[in-house]
Amino acid sequence: MHEKHIQKTVLVTGATGYVGRRLTESLLENASCSVRLLVRNPAKVQAGIAHRADIRKGSTFDKDLLAAALNGVDTAFYLIHSMGDTQDYRELDRLSAENFRDACIAAGVSRIVYLGGLGVKESASDHLLSRIETGEILSAKPDRIQTIWVRAAVIIGSGSASFEIIRHLVQKLPVMITPRWVRTRIQPIGVDDVVSYLQASIDFVHEGNLMVDIGSDVLTFQQMMQQASEVMGLKRILFPVPVLSPRLSSYWLILFTPIPYKMASALVEGMKSETIQQNDHATRYFPNIHPISFREAVGRAIGELEKNQVISRWCDSTGRQACDIKEFDNPAGAILRDVRIIPFEKGQQSEDVFRSACEIGGARGWFRYDFLWRLRGLMDKLVGGYGLNRGRRLDKELRLGDALDFWKVADIKSGKRLLLYAQMKLPGQAWLEFDVQSDQLVQTAHFLPRGVLGRLYWYLVMPLHHLVFNDLARTIVSSSTKSA
Ligand SMILES: NC(=O)c1ccc[n+]([C@@H]2O[C@H](COP(=O)([O-])OP(=O)(O)OC[C@H]3O[C@@H](n4cnc5c(N)ncnc54)[C@H](OP(=O)(O)O)[C@@H]3O)[C@@H](O)[C@H]2O)c1
Repeated sequence: MHEKHIQKTVLVTGATGYVGRRLTESLLENASCSVRLLVRNPAKVQAGIAHRADIRKGSTFDKDLLAAALNGVDTAFYLIHSMGDTQDYRELDRLSAENFRDACIAAGVSRIVYLGGLGVKESASDHLLSRIETGEILSAKPDRIQTIWVRAAVIIGSGSASFEIIRHLVQKLPVMITPRWVRTRIQPIGVDDVVSYLQASIDFVHEGNLMVDIGSDVLTFQQMMQQASEVMGLKRILFPVPVLSPRLSSYWLILFTPIPYKMASALVEGMKSETIQQNDHATRYFPNIHPISFREAVGRAIGELEKNQVISRWCDSTGRQACDIKEFDNPAGAILRDVRIIPFEKGQQSEDVFRSACEIGGARGWFRYDFLWRLRGLMDKLVGGYGLNRGRRLDKELRLGDALDFWKVADIKSGKRLLLYAQMKLPGQAWLEFDVQSDQLVQTAHFLPRGVLGRLYWYLVMPLHHLVFNDLARTIVSSSTKSA
């Protein structure tokens, strides 16, 4: 007689984030479980996933929706953090973890799997402390619910913040003067291995809570940069200096890499203390997983970039803003506008124009006045913004929530509308809308100024807008014929 196989139901939170997107893809491909996602904005779930997973809208701060999403779940992944929120993220992280743990207990979930940061409390940065507190809260009731707490240091994969920082520094700087913190020991791990440990945690048999520290070779940031330059075939010279200079390092990072100031300073702060495995539980309990080396992880990440196969990026979610994207999808409140209407020429099709609009930015650039966009990007970087360095995830495809240089995709209706929300530092809020009609493209830059400064800004940049927006709309339409 066949034993009846009961499929487990697994809930993934953070499924629109860097790790969560990859875990979701892997579960749907390889695992024999039914996959449920808890997301704040269902429209952010990528096409190809949406019809294969059970998607529940909710947040850890909405107890009713959380309870409903956890009903019938066996294992729940906690891949959430509140960093990037303008409010006190540590307090939000505590509340979020408490809500989640209590809701899991009430729903009869048997196991929480949490991915946190590697490191010890005594020397932890604020960000790591918050990750440790989250783990402690989730594992605080072992008699009621079991928690597998996986801890990783630097994650290397296409689109991961650490990989992007290393890639940009190595590609842009032939000679680097490196401060003391680049010689702190770290244990990086490839993102695919992180996903393997998380996935293996579903069926892993164990009584009680467990902390699993994961990682590959122990390296310094300096060695990581040297190895990455070798993988990229670039010769780089690093001059070590004995100073720490975290503030200077953060400015350096924001200038040459895509990350904004807040993230750069958190990263440099974190690099001041060692982040290496504190237990051997990864090899003891998961002997079948053999993490790839840092070099291999870099090679794999570059391969994915070259093949345009980036599943997720560090900037997919940016604290409060990205999830609240629906608040930004209607620029009706804007009071200043720059409208360009470009009729199609004979033979031009609206779907080709839409495709052309979706290919702007990133490596393709912003056409004739690219240098003006770059200058604006540099100005943004200098005041702590993203600048243009984020580029885009894929050359030809956009999805809701994707970062596109200093914009974020706020709405996308295939063949009809692309709406970008400005994430650059501005005295107001701005959107760039492409409304593709049957015979013309209506491109509108919307602006909601903040006070007199906002208005002054708009009128000051008006002559530049005239050049760049006119050229942008015309080139999108004219190049649609070539890209068709
Ligand atoms: N990425 C790394 O390099 C790294 C390294 C070590 C450890 N980790 C750990 O791995 C975990 C996941 O990190 P990540 O980099 O994948 O994060 P991420 O890309 O920033 O994504 C965070 C995810 O959490 C969701 N979220 C945030 N607050 C929520 C709430 N209150 N309710 C429901 N969903 C919420 C976000 O949704 P929206 O899309 O709606 O914003 C997003 O899907 C974290 O615990 C982190 O500490 C990451």
